[in-house]
Amino acid sequence: MRTPSRILVLGTGGRENALAWRLAGERGVEAVFVAPGNPGMRDVAQVRPDVRADEVTAVLALVAAESIELVVVGPEGPLVDGVADALRAEGVVVFGPDAGAARIEGSKAFCREVATVAGIPMAEGDVFDSVASALAYAQRLRPPVVVKADGLAGGKGVTVCHTLEEAEAALTDALVLSAFGTAGRRVVVERALVGREASVIALCDATTAVALPAARDHKRLGEGDSGPNTGGMGAYSPVAELDAELVADILERFHRPILAELARRGTAFRGALYAGLMLTEDGPRLLEFNARFGDPEAQALLPGVAVPLAPLLLAAAEDRLAAAATRLGVAESTLPAAAGHSVAIVLAAAGYPGRPRSGDVIEGVEDARNESALVFWGGVAARGDERLVTAGGRVMTLVARGPSLEEAAERAYRAAGRIDFAGRQMRRDIARSAVGVGVR
Ligand code: AMP
Ligand code: GLY
Repeated sequence: MRTPSRILVLGTGGRENALAWRLAGERGVEAVFVAPGNPGMRDVAQVRPDVRADEVTAVLALVAAESIELVVVGPEGPLVDGVADALRAEGVVVFGPDAGAARIEGSKAFCREVATVAGIPMAEGDVFDSVASALAYAQRLRPPVVVKADGLAGGKGVTVCHTLEEAEAALTDALVLSAFGTAGRRVVVERALVGREASVIALCDATTAVALPAARDHKRLGEGDSGPNTGGMGAYSPVAELDAELVADILERFHRPILAELARRGTAFRGALYAGLMLTEDGPRLLEFNARFGDPEAQALLPGVAVPLAPLLLAAAEDRLAAAATRLGVAESTLPAAAGHSVAIVLAAAGYPGRPRSGDVIEGVEDARNESALVFWGGVAARGDERLVTAGGRVMTLVARGPSLEEAAERAYRAAGRIDFAGRQMRRDIARSAVGVGVR
C-alpha cells in the first residue's frame, strides 16, 4: 500500500483544514502543504498564501519545488475551471475530477441530463432559458416548485417557490435581471420534494465508489431552518435514518450509475462525489451532485474515518481504488468509521452570508481546544501581532465526537461557547433537531 509522503491541499476553508489535519496525522505522510490556505492552518501544514488554487503555473512550481506526490483539490471552483486537467496534463497525480466530470456540479442542467440517462431517482423537472416557457412548466407542475440557477452560485442559486408569483419573481431574477450572473442564464425548474436531507460522499475512481458514512448539513442561517441559505452552518454524522446498508444501497442507485455514465462519455470522475439527497416517503431522491467533499460535512466526517485516507486518495487518483480498499480490509461499500457520533458547529462572521465583516479579533481558542474539540479554520487572517481575526464568512468549525449524538453536540457547543468574536453567528440547534432536544 503506497502512502504519498508529500501532499498539497488546494483551498482556503474549514474543509481544507480538516483534510490537511487528517492527512498530516497519518503514518507515512511526511509533509502537508496548503495553498493558499489560511494562517489558522499553520499548526498542521505548511501554508503557502502566495499560491492561488487557480493559478496553474504557480501550483506546478510548488509541486516541483516540494516534490509533491498528490494534490487534493478542495473547492469546486478550480475543478470546474479545469485546474485538475491542467495539473494532470503535466503528470501531477490529482484527487479531484477533470472539468468534464466536475460539470456535474458546475451545471445543474448537465447534472439533470446525465442523471436522467443514468436512471437516477430525482424530482420531475426540466431546463429553460426563457421566463415564459419556465413559468408555463411551473404552472403545469403546480407550486411548490424549485427554481435553480444552472451554474455555480455558492449555494444561493436555489429558490423554493410556493406560488406562481414567487416562481415568476425567481425566474425573472435569474433570467432577466442576471441576479446570478452567467450562472443564471439557464434555470432548472423542479417539483419541490418533501423530506429530510442527507449527504452521502464517496471516494471514487473511474469505476469504484466507496462511501463515507452519511452526514446531515444545516444549510440555513437561522435556527429551525429559517433565514437565508448559506454554505452550511453545521453538520453531524452518522445520520440515524441511513445505516451502512442503506448507504450501500444509495451508492448503488446514485453514485455508481453516474460514474458509469461519466466514464462512458470519456469524462471519468476521480475524486469525492457528493450526492445531496432528499429522503422522501418514496425513498431517496437526488437534489444535486457535488464534485468534492462538503464543507462542513468533511469536518464532521474526516476525524471518524477508521482507515488511512492518504493511500485511498492516492489510489482513487490513480484508478486503483478497488484494490487499495480491499488491501485496507474495506470489505463493504462504506469506509469503516470509529464508533460514536460527530458534530461540527460553524461560527460565522457578522454579516454572513451577505457581506461578512472582517477584522474582528478571535478569542478563546485554547479554551475551546481544552474542551477536547477540534478547531478547523476558514475565513481568518493574522494581524501584525499574530492574533487571528475574521476575514471571511465561515470563520471556523468546532468538531467534537461522543458516544451519542447528544453528547457529541454537548461537547461541540461547550467548545463553541468558549470562542468569542464580535458579531459571531452560530446556530444552536445543530444535530439537536434530530435528537429531539430542540432549540435552546
Ligand atoms: P441544491 O444546490 O440543488 O442542493 O439546492 C440547495 C437546497 O435547495 C437543497 O439543499 C434543498 O434544501 C433545496 N432543494 C433543491 N432542490 C429541491 C427540491 N427539488 N425540492 C425541495 N428542495 C430542494
Ligand atoms: N455543505 C454543503 C456543501 O458543501 O455543498
